[in-house]
Amino acid sequence: MERIRCDRTATWRGLQNLFTNGGQTFDLRRAFADDEGRLQAFSQNAPHVFADLSKNLIDRATQQLLFTLARQCGLEQHRDAMFSGAAINTTEQRAVLHWLLRSPASLADGADALAGERAQVHTVLGAMLAYAQSVRADDAITDIVNIGIGGSDLGPQMAVLALDSFVLPGKRFHFVSNVDGHELAAVLQRLKPDNTLFLIASKTFTTIETMTNARSARDWFESNGGKDVGRHFAALTTNVAAAKAFGIRTTFGFWDWVGGRYSVWSAIGLPLAIAIGEQGFREFLGGAHAMDEHFRSAALEQNLPVRLGLLDIWYRNFHRFTSRSIAPYHSALRRLPAYLQQLEMESNGKCVDAQGQALRFGTAPVLWGEPGTNGQHAIFQMLHQGTDVVPVEFVAVKKPRHDLPGHHNLLLANVLAQAQALMVGQRDTGGHRNFPGNRPSTFLLLDELTPTTLGALIALQEHRVFVSGSLWGVNSFDQWGVELGKVLAKDLQVRMQTGDVSGLDSSTAGLLQRLR
Ligand code: F6P
Repeated sequence: MERIRCDRTATWRGLQNLFTNGGQTFDLRRAFADDEGRLQAFSQNAPHVFADLSKNLIDRATQQLLFTLARQCGLEQHRDAMFSGAAINTTEQRAVLHWLLRSPASLADGADALAGERAQVHTVLGAMLAYAQSVRADDAITDIVNIGIGGSDLGPQMAVLALDSFVLPGKRFHFVSNVDGHELAAVLQRLKPDNTLFLIASKTFTTIETMTNARSARDWFESNGGKDVGRHFAALTTNVAAAKAFGIRTTFGFWDWVGGRYSVWSAIGLPLAIAIGEQGFREFLGGAHAMDEHFRSAALEQNLPVRLGLLDIWYRNFHRFTSRSIAPYHSALRRLPAYLQQLEMESNGKCVDAQGQALRFGTAPVLWGEPGTNGQHAIFQMLHQGTDVVPVEFVAVKKPRHDLPGHHNLLLANVLAQAQALMVGQRDTGGHRNFPGNRPSTFLLLDELTPTTLGALIALQEHRVFVSGSLWGVNSFDQWGVELGKVLAKDLQVRMQTGDVSGLDSSTAGLLQRLR
C-alpha cells in the first residue's frame, strides 16, 4: 500500500499558507465570539469518551484541510492495512495486531484472515484469566510483584492504579522495573516468600533490568525459606523457552506482533486481571474494542483518534509546539502521563521515515504532566505565563467513586477553571499579573473511571499516535533508538569491574574512574 509522507503533498503547502495567513494569529476568544456553533463543530463523541476540542487553535478551514491531508497521505489505507494483518512494522517485518487482543472471539467468521492468531489469542486469554481467578481465590497469596520495564511495567502499573477502586481487597500489587537495587530491596523487605507471587514480565525475556531483578527475586525467595518456585513465579513473555529455562513452569505467551508499549491487553495485563478479575479485564478489552471499531469505521471527520492525531500534526509542524502536557483530574490516573510518554515518544520519536530518509520536520512532542489539582501548584505557572505555549490535554471524570462531600465538585470546578483561564487570560498592565490567554487545551471527559472507559481511553491514545506517525511517514512500531545505550552499557559494565578506560572519550573515562 502506498503511503505518502505529509510534507510531500500539495496540501502541506496549503496548510503552510493557512498558517501564515491567519493560523498563527488565530485567537480563541475571537473564534468563540464569531462562531456560535464552535463547540458543536469542535467536539466529538466517541465510545466512552467525549472530547471538547473547541479550545484549540484551529478553525474549520484548517481542520478540513487536515482531513484532506490525511486522505492524501493514505491514512485510511494504512489503518486498514494494520487491521488486515499486513506487516506494517516494516523495519522488523511484523504485523501490528495489538487490537486483535481485544477483538471478541465471536467476531471470527469463515473469512477471517487472522483466524489462527485470533484462536491463539483467546486460548491464552482464557488460560490467563483462569489463572488470575485462581490467584484471586488463593488467600495465601497477598502480594503480587510485577517485575518488568517499559511496556512490561507502565501499562499494567498505570491500569492497576487507575482502577484501584475495583481491586480485590486483601491483595497488594508492587511494580519493580528499575535495575537500581533500591527499588527491589524496598519491596522485598515488606514481603514473605509464602505470601508472594512474582510475575516476570518481559516480551523478550532478555531485558537486562528485568532478568537481573528476576534473578535477585528468586535468590531472595530461596534464601528466605521459599520452597516452590513453580508456585510463586509466573512468566509473561513471547519467549516461553527462556522462561522455562529460568525455571518458571507457569507461563503465558504472546507474540512478536504485539509491541511492548501496546501489550497491556496481552498476558502482560495479568497483574490487572488479578486485580480486577476476569469480568473486569474483559470489560477493559471491550472498551478498547469499541474504540477500535470507532477508529476503523467512523468517517475521518467524526473520528476522534483522527481528529486528535491531526491536531498533533498542526501543533507540531505548523505552530512548532514541542510538547504536550497531560493533566488527568483524577488521582488514580497519576501514572497516565508516564504511560503516554512511552506510547508517544517511543512510537514517534524518530528522525527518519520508514524508508530511512531523514525528516526535515518535527515528530513526537515531549509529553509530560501531573494530575490535577497538584499540577496547578507546581507546573501550571509556566503553562499560563511561560514563554512557550504548551497545549494541555485535560482528562476529567464526571462521577467519583467516593462519597466525601464537596471534593469532586471542587475538583471539576478546578479543571474547568484551568481550561478557561488558559484560554481567556487576564489583562493587566502591571505585567506580573497579566495572563496572555489564547493557550490551547483539549478536554477529554469520561462518565466514570471503569475498566471499560479506561480501555477506551487507552485505545484512543494508541490510535491517535498511529495517525500522526502515519502522516509523518515513520514506523511507529519499532524502537531502534533504545539499542545503542544497551550495547554500550554492556561494555561499560565490564570496564566498571576492570577499570579499563582504553579507547573511551575522556569524559566517560574520567567519570568511570570516579565511580569505581
Ligand atoms: O528498551 C525498550 C523496550 O524494548 C521497550 O520497547 C519495551 O517495552 C521494554 O524495552 C521492555 O522490553 P521487554 O518486555 O522485552 O523486557
